[in-house]
Amino acid sequence: MEKVYIETYGCQMNFADSDVIASILKGAGYGFCEAMEEADFILINTCAIRDNAEQRVRHRVRELRALQNKHPQLRIGVLGCMAERLQSRLMTEEENVSFVCGPDAYRRLPDLLSQVRSEVGGRRSEVELSTTETYADIEPVRLSGNGISAYISIMRGCQNYCAYCVVPYTRGRERSRDPETIVREARTLFEQGYREVTLLGQNVNSYRWNEESFTFPELMAKVAEVDPQLRVRFATSHPKDLSDSLLEVMAKYPNICRCIHLPVQSGSNRMLKLMNRKYTVEWYLDRVEAIHRYLPDCSITTDVIAGFSTETEEDHQATLELFRKVRYDYAYMFMYSLREGTYAWKHLDDDIPEEEKKRRLNEIIALQGEIALENNQKEVGREYEVLVEGESHRSKQQLFGRNSQNKVIVFDRGDAVAGSYRRVKVISCTAATLIGELVQ
Ligand code: SAH
Ligand code: SF4
Ligand code: F3S
Repeated sequence: MEKVYIETYGCQMNFADSDVIASILKGAGYGFCEAMEEADFILINTCAIRDNAEQRVRHRVRELRALQNKHPQLRIGVLGCMAERLQSRLMTEEENVSFVCGPDAYRRLPDLLSQVRSEVGGRRSEVELSTTETYADIEPVRLSGNGISAYISIMRGCQNYCAYCVVPYTRGRERSRDPETIVREARTLFEQGYREVTLLGQNVNSYRWNEESFTFPELMAKVAEVDPQLRVRFATSHPKDLSDSLLEVMAKYPNICRCIHLPVQSGSNRMLKLMNRKYTVEWYLDRVEAIHRYLPDCSITTDVIAGFSTETEEDHQATLELFRKVRYDYAYMFMYSLREGTYAWKHLDDDIPEEEKKRRLNEIIALQGEIALENNQKEVGREYEVLVEGESHRSKQQLFGRNSQNKVIVFDRGDAVAGSYRRVKVISCTAATLIGELVQ
């Protein structure tokens, strides 16, 4: 039996896709290995969102040459968003890559693998995007899972065309998956002992089945009803589509987690317009207010980009101001990276010097660090229900889990076991972690 090693970069969708890939290959008779030295095929599932994400993958591919010299049988394939973006160009630029396969072509993988195996020096590219592929009928093989928390893809693609973003080009048109298959997957996971599912899409709240009739809030309700002991999360929601009806459904089901990831990107209306985000700062703040109204204990997290085209000091200050207003519990913060093929690449200058982008990013990071610490300090003394996930990285004597707000809490293990719900009282904190103790 030939063995496959899968290495995954990028967002949660990519990790979920790797489990679909594993399922497809398992069905075709391939085995998997945990050490890449044992592999006949190394598949790298890649991200193209920023230049540094691609540079990491290129570096990795070149590193693998040494291993290929030792094992001439070894074939390397590049999958995912970078494969889609660069297509066969990638095989010209990286000579030790035998095949590329885009995100909608994974059913072709068994053929691809056998073709590059049977032809000496054979190279293949499968990058066609689809308007219908959702892999709905494939039961993912959860290779890297912890048996407690799992991802479920509910839609694929994005057509929001934010000016800076490559995703609409690498992932294709938006399409939603049959709700029955989603609910069935959630139920099976629960029966297998999983206690948390995260519903995934680039823009989950534009989920839509049967034209208009069955939308994201209805889907959330159905998944929440699988069992009150199953936690339900989702990512990512676009602020323009964050509806009151979703917040109402969340308020109704305590097992829908009190955490909303609401990427803002910038606190300046001029930037938001140029980015084609389709909302204003005022709209965004109104949505934050609605979240607090429906779900007083909900945490809010975000994504932000520093140094987008023409961003002035004033625009940057507006972003800092917005961070002070919203007081995010967590933020993913990035320097703008120009991506080939996007609207910004065609029409806007990447005119903020690297050093200046870095300074602005560092200011946002520093501010967010202060806010996160202050937010966490307010948690001290509170009690939460924690889903225990496993051993803490620092000490075998400690376990960690997350509360509904998605905050990590570390505590002395006592009689707690992974996969169970326990009440934990917060006794101290850092900016990143809460430290707690079991409430007996
Ligand atoms: N679909 C999600 C975002 C997916 S990409 C959403 O719209 O919310 C994750 C994050 O990467 C984005 O929110 C954005 O902050 C960042 N990002 C995307 N393109 C980028 C680029 N060209 N440069 C820097 N950051 C980028
Ligand atoms: Fe990219 Fe915008 Fe789509 Fe998010 S919504 S994936 S940022 S184009
Ligand atoms: Fe990256 Fe593709 Fe996800 S570009 S962020 S892996 S959708």
